[in-house]
Amino acid sequence: MKVLSVSSEVFPLIKTGGLADVAGALPIALKPHGVETKTLLPGYPTVMKAIRNPVVRLEFADLLGEKATVFEAEHDGISLFVLDAPAYYNRTGGPYVDATGKDYPDNWRRFAALSLAGSEIAAGLLPGWRPDLVHVHDWQSAMVPVYMRYYPTPELPSVLTIHNIAFQGQFGADIFPGLRLPAHAFSIEGIEYYGDVGFLKGGLQTALALTTVSPSYAEEILTPEFGMGLEGVIASRANSLHGIVNGIDDGIWDPQTDPMIAQTYGAATLKDRAANRKVVIEHFGLDDDDGPIFCVVSRLTWQKGMDLLARICGDIVRLGGKLAILGAGDAALEGALFAAAGRYRGRVGVSAGYNEPMSHLMQAGCDGIIIPSRFEPCGLTQLYGLRYGCLPIVARTGGLNDTIIDANHAALQAKVATGIQFSPVTADGLLQAIRRAMHLFQDRKVWTQMQKQGMKSDVSWGKSAERYAALYSSLVSRGA
Ligand code: ADP
Ligand code: GLC
Repeated sequence: MKVLSVSSEVFPLIKTGGLADVAGALPIALKPHGVETKTLLPGYPTVMKAIRNPVVRLEFADLLGEKATVFEAEHDGISLFVLDAPAYYNRTGGPYVDATGKDYPDNWRRFAALSLAGSEIAAGLLPGWRPDLVHVHDWQSAMVPVYMRYYPTPELPSVLTIHNIAFQGQFGADIFPGLRLPAHAFSIEGIEYYGDVGFLKGGLQTALALTTVSPSYAEEILTPEFGMGLEGVIASRANSLHGIVNGIDDGIWDPQTDPMIAQTYGAATLKDRAANRKVVIEHFGLDDDDGPIFCVVSRLTWQKGMDLLARICGDIVRLGGKLAILGAGDAALEGALFAAAGRYRGRVGVSAGYNEPMSHLMQAGCDGIIIPSRFEPCGLTQLYGLRYGCLPIVARTGGLNDTIIDANHAALQAKVATGIQFSPVTADGLLQAIRRAMHLFQDRKVWTQMQKQGMKSDVSWGKSAERYAALYSSLVSRGA
């Protein structure tokens, strides 16, 4: 089966979060199931620089007003279609925001163009290759099924995966003419969303099947608290919604072979983590004592509960814990965490910015990873934590709920616990969880047992790739 995947991020070419990891790893995991995926992504400067021997496959003289070229290339085992449209993507700054952190004002056109290009490939415009199914991700490519519906495209099944319903691609109705859709697309069945244009909303209405990245999140987004305005649309499509938990690329994230860590190790050689711990201690300026080091590797946002963490830094220190925080995002949160680092020298260390190798080292050297998210569609850092023996301390929500087994009395007795879950997601709830972690850490036998149990957990793409492959097959055969 041939699948066109469309994503605004693909690891290792461009990444701001878990979407990139998933869009990079899933096609590789699907190969053994006979699924041949080609991934369409924007030709950001880093992407254009990284690809070797690109071949021109398709040219647009006027893709929503700009010239564009689709190149085909291979990168790290991923088959790519790169949409090179310098007017849209050749910019300094990130994929969505400029150097000052502000959204590009023409994001709607940049990602509508990506989606339109995807729908044209789906329609067979690219010589010699037409997919059997299209798989799109989040609002940035959610307009692919919209264009497929309203442009006369031969029937082709489409899947839209919701990685985070908080990001909806909502724009003023004044952009509608620029999308070049027929007038009736601006309707409840289409992309009209509370009087505005909603990219994700349109995709939710027009994709044949919907998935989200954990079973718990699939249920949560049916409620107003988590659905964020889209719960009604989701409810109307509940029969087509599937919750499939993410896996991780266990080739890249393997403590036994990881080239980014100071010392490789396995479940039988956990003592070797000490060398990685030492690098973390040096990097974050922490005291070298026996107390546990809890880490955070995260976007610094309200979603991730970073304000809750900032509020209890002093309590964690008083309990004897240390904190190593790697993150980028909200300036106020960054400021609050840096203030804590200044106040508690040697106990709290903060590194601002994006640092892929350091994110590996922290999982390999710290004792626990704290993830106090208010909502978490899946979350990947807890899965890396499991694999690296860095005990996840997580809010009981979304994918965190589905992937971590809380160290309650019964689970400890049965030796199946892999981390700590807490609820409600408040500063006090988080502090209670840290207290439990500190207590468990005193009993090194129990702690080590939990580390080993986590390392045994299946966090690979295996079963989930199988579920995607089965979903694809059912959709393709339905149309046949
Ligand atoms: P989200 O996509 O919501 O940010 P995930 O847990 O799904 O959350 O994915 C986050 C990904 O980004 C993980 O691979 C994590 O290691 C990585 N990451 C987050 N912040 C940083 C950072 N500051 N430096 C390096 N990697 C980071
Ligand atoms: C989003 C979600 C995160 C999920 C990731 C990959 O960024 O916030 O929970 O793990 O997508 O699906």
